[in-house]
Amino acid sequence: MPIQFEKVSYTYEKKSPFAHDALKGVDLLLEEGKTSAIVGKTGSGKSTLIQQMNALLNPTEGKVIIGDFINSANKKERSKDLFSLRKKVGMVFQFPEYQLFEDTVEKDVAFGPRNFGMKKEEALQAAHEALRRVGLDESFDKRSPFQLSGGEKRKVAIAGILATKPSILVLDEPTSGLDPASAEETMALFEEIKKDGTTLILVTHDMDLVLKHADQVVVMEEGEIKKVCTPEELFSLSLEEYSLDTPKVYRFAKKAIEKGIPLSLEGLHDVSSLAEALCKALRKEKK
Ligand SMILES: Nc1ncnc2c1ncn2[C@@H]1O[C@H](COP(=O)(O)OP(=O)(O)OP(=O)(O)O)[C@@H](O)[C@H]1O
Ligand SMILES: [Mg+2]
Repeated sequence: MPIQFEKVSYTYEKKSPFAHDALKGVDLLLEEGKTSAIVGKTGSGKSTLIQQMNALLNPTEGKVIIGDFINSANKKERSKDLFSLRKKVGMVFQFPEYQLFEDTVEKDVAFGPRNFGMKKEEALQAAHEALRRVGLDESFDKRSPFQLSGGEKRKVAIAGILATKPSILVLDEPTSGLDPASAEETMALFEEIKKDGTTLILVTHDMDLVLKHADQVVVMEEGEIKKVCTPEELFSLSLEEYSLDTPKVYRFAKKAIEKGIPLSLEGLHDVSSLAEALCKALRKEKK
């Protein structure tokens, strides 16, 4: 299911002296089955943008079309069935572990499926499947979510969203606060989920994640869309203009090029592809 923004503006505290235009005339298409990364400085409007996708916020102007759901500034045009929308669009908020509340892990994960109408046994089964998928074995099922480590809590929270089987998964900084191994595992899990045809929306400040995982990147600045392109296109530009970091992989490759290694930036996504490109370039040099 694609997501289409049509001239969407959003003002916080409209009609008050504190009114703030957080989105300004956003036109944007997020494609089905792809990973779209949303990047931009703190306060550029990323979280405000994603909250329009499951109608936590309604546009003050324009509309967002999510499949057959319309989230419009015009109340008459706005779809009413929030229940179906929220079943389709799963949101993993930043620090989702703060939203855990049940007394056992399995009950917490089963809450979403129960809420969306599954019977108790069926919901528990969906919960167990989701827990195994995020790498938490049976020994976690009956534990209290409050007695887990931060990374384990994050996994439980993510399992809670996966158990409802959303077709669009919106992730706001999903790896912040995780150790590098857990961050990598979590991203690998999202890649798996994408293979089922799930559309991923990834909000992040980590440009290496963007380079490795995104098909499309949307750069925001002061509530506007500054650029929509592939990560390769973005990172080949001068990034100061966008106040973005260069991914470490690109920084390394550019230094190597400066030092005379004939490396091509094309096809560089992560450390493995960098190592491969480097070997190729060095072998060529030897000949
Ligand atoms: N509840 C609110 N009331 C008033 N202004 C708000 C509110 N929430 C956000 N804003 C303002 O709207 C703008 C966009 O905020 P938003 O949270 O969308 O930014 P962001 O790009 O997600 O930032 P970050 O990278 O820090 O998460 C900011 O200037 C912020 O101060
Ligand atoms: Mg945010």
